[in-house]
Amino acid sequence: MKTFIQSLPKVELHIHIEGSLEPELLFSLAQRNQISLPYASPEALRKAYEFEDLQSFLDIYYQGAGVLQQKQDFYDLTWAYLQRCKQDNVIHTEIFFDPQTHTDRGVAFETVIEGIDAALKAGQQQLGISSNLIMCFLRHLSEEQAIETLRQALPYKDKIVAVGLDSSELGHPPEKFQRVFEQAREQGFLTVAHAGEEGPAQNIVDSIELLGVSRVDHGVRCVDSESLLARLIASKMPLTVCPLSNIKLCVFDNMQQHNIVELLRQGVAVTINSDDPAYFGGYMTDNFNAVANAHTITMQELAQFTINAIEASFISDSQKQAYRLLVDRYLEKAALI
Ligand code: ADE
Ligand code: ZN
Repeated sequence: MKTFIQSLPKVELHIHIEGSLEPELLFSLAQRNQISLPYASPEALRKAYEFEDLQSFLDIYYQGAGVLQQKQDFYDLTWAYLQRCKQDNVIHTEIFFDPQTHTDRGVAFETVIEGIDAALKAGQQQLGISSNLIMCFLRHLSEEQAIETLRQALPYKDKIVAVGLDSSELGHPPEKFQRVFEQAREQGFLTVAHAGEEGPAQNIVDSIELLGVSRVDHGVRCVDSESLLARLIASKMPLTVCPLSNIKLCVFDNMQQHNIVELLRQGVAVTINSDDPAYFGGYMTDNFNAVANAHTITMQELAQFTINAIEASFISDSQKQAYRLLVDRYLEKAALI
């Protein structure tokens, strides 16, 4: 199963680029930008990655992002992530970035997006990995700040496919961002939102009804509402689930308790994603392996995660068809072995 998973074509739909900042790169960027760190070494930093909930992670994650200052830093960060994609046979990825994490520190929006975008173009040309970029609003900040961020993004519309909503879910419900999401949709952006990670099932309902999302990020708390579950199945609403993240942030006690396989079998359009791989112990292949090790699951079911992700992605229908064919061929080949 391990080799099947390693070579399975994968599509990632939930990765925060700032969450792919490995301690080694974090240290080398700190040195390059002459920033002193409160840790002695990358190993010491990694040891601090013990979280009890989402907020305890976010505090360390925003601190780590402080080493990102120049366009080259954002390029190097994104390029390092794309190398991991290549190793894991990720053929397409849709990447979140949090501009406010950087603009609030005085880094220009342009610096952030141009660094990331240049690396994504190189990833397409040199590694054959296709990608889309999703701009997230930080939900612990105000609606006005989100509106200002949307304004800053307008000159880069051609580089951003959708807007999203991340950061502290508790206390910051979807309705707080209803107007800015409406403005984003008017500007032609698609929308997604983190919901039902730590927050209630109602946040999933509200993300669908008030924010008009095309997919829900996490969404694992949907099981708390039978009517929502039925609605997700009937509407084929995709959930971008992040198994290792959910264990690291104590959303589930352990991987055996995780509901992703049950949701798949109930017909929910669940996908597997890494969220913040540098902090949660693994990239795409690691997440697939963690699920397969904790649950009895078939190759067909594992491939279904990729098929669901292709369907849920923001690529053209012809690109979707080409990628589905890759998975079909891969499954046919695997059946012969
Ligand atoms: N930002 C980065 N990772 C996140 C997560 N898992 N939930 C909410 N906001 C995030
Ligand atoms: Zn996330």
